[in-house]
Amino acid sequence: MNATTELKIFCPATIANISCGFDVLGVALESVGDEMLIRKVEQKGIRITKLTGQNLPTETHLNVAGVAGLALLADSNYEGGFEIEMYKKIKAGSGIGSSAASSTGAVWAMNELLGRPFSKTELVKFAMEGERLASGVAHADNVAPALFGGFTLVRSYDPLDIVPIPSPKQLWATVIHPQIEVRTSDSRKILKTNITLADGIKQWGNLGGLVAGLFTEDYSLIGRSLVDHIVEPIRSILIPGFDKVKSVSMDAGALGCGISGSGPSIFAFSKGEENALHVARAMKDVYRKIGIDYDVHVSKVNSTGVHKI
Ligand code: HSE
Repeated sequence: MNATTELKIFCPATIANISCGFDVLGVALESVGDEMLIRKVEQKGIRITKLTGQNLPTETHLNVAGVAGLALLADSNYEGGFEIEMYKKIKAGSGIGSSAASSTGAVWAMNELLGRPFSKTELVKFAMEGERLASGVAHADNVAPALFGGFTLVRSYDPLDIVPIPSPKQLWATVIHPQIEVRTSDSRKILKTNITLADGIKQWGNLGGLVAGLFTEDYSLIGRSLVDHIVEPIRSILIPGFDKVKSVSMDAGALGCGISGSGPSIFAFSKGEENALHVARAMKDVYRKIGIDYDVHVSKVNSTGVHKI
């Protein structure tokens, strides 16, 4: 086999929502992500031929990479198919875009192997079908940064309009994953479907502030804007120790702290690696005392998104 018929790729983990940007904002991480091998074959359809690291279904229509791949094939003139090997490093249900990494990786690699017939925005649409399978809703705030790298804003879902946003050079993320299960579908069901105008005003003020802070590398503005008046007050009750983790992170010098995606992971942003490591130590202490196991990731922003390895 040569590079034209198979691709080995890295697809990054992502933090979605980023406090004030529920379903519209996300960022890709450098230090954690999945590896996949995608092979172009004559046999029609998509087959998951290997899956290591997580206990997930390998039937094509039950696997997010399979479903995203089928969405791409349905829009393509290609007569053959693909085999997918998945080496999962991102834990399913952790809140750092495990399903998005699988579905994004699959469609990105297939597009490369087919000679790039689809735009990045079209690939986001295909990958969103994997998110629909995983959570019941085809949101794009994890798949867009996994594909584009850096921060992305979903300005509109219909029509889909993704806006890449530059990443401040010294911005680091700390993510702690307490080992409890929170299903995205459940943590979406508990949300209210209406918000007050007063909460809306506060939320879009912060979202605008965060985007402006990212563009201008204004760390203080980024920190002031990392506030969620709508989703965090409801979802945080599903995460033991959340308030404590947040307060110790802020005391340790984080710019801001909130729920990563639908949880249970909690993220904090810091200026510089030293601060991010300091925040990690403070976060770990909380779960050590509560007696809940955890994983921690300290990472720069990944600015390239999914790529060949
Ligand atoms: N925006 C989605 C949610 C991300 O919060 O439900 C899920 O990872």
